[in-house]
Amino acid sequence: MATTQSSDPTVAPPAGFATRGRIVCNCWNVSQSEIGEFVAALPDVEHGLDRPALDALQAALKCGTECGSCLPEIRRMVSERKRERLAA
Ligand code: FES
Repeated sequence: MATTQSSDPTVAPPAGFATRGRIVCNCWNVSQSEIGEFVAALPDVEHGLDRPALDALQAALKCGTECGSCLPEIRRMVSERKRERLAA
């Protein structure tokens, strides 16, 4: 039986679907793009401290609330976004 699917990883995703990007939190299946979009949408006041932004992120997406192995990267992403906001 012939198949139309390819095992070639370079094949583009189907049109109309946005790629989620790399998964940062495997426990909760949260991607880099989801975290980035959430942090970008936080009000400026949230960027005064990293902790409120991290708390809001964990409450909304649950990332970093299980094993915690993704927390260093999540903290890095939050800090990076904060620096970008302050520089703007
Ligand atoms: S990988 Fe994020 S909590 Fe486990």
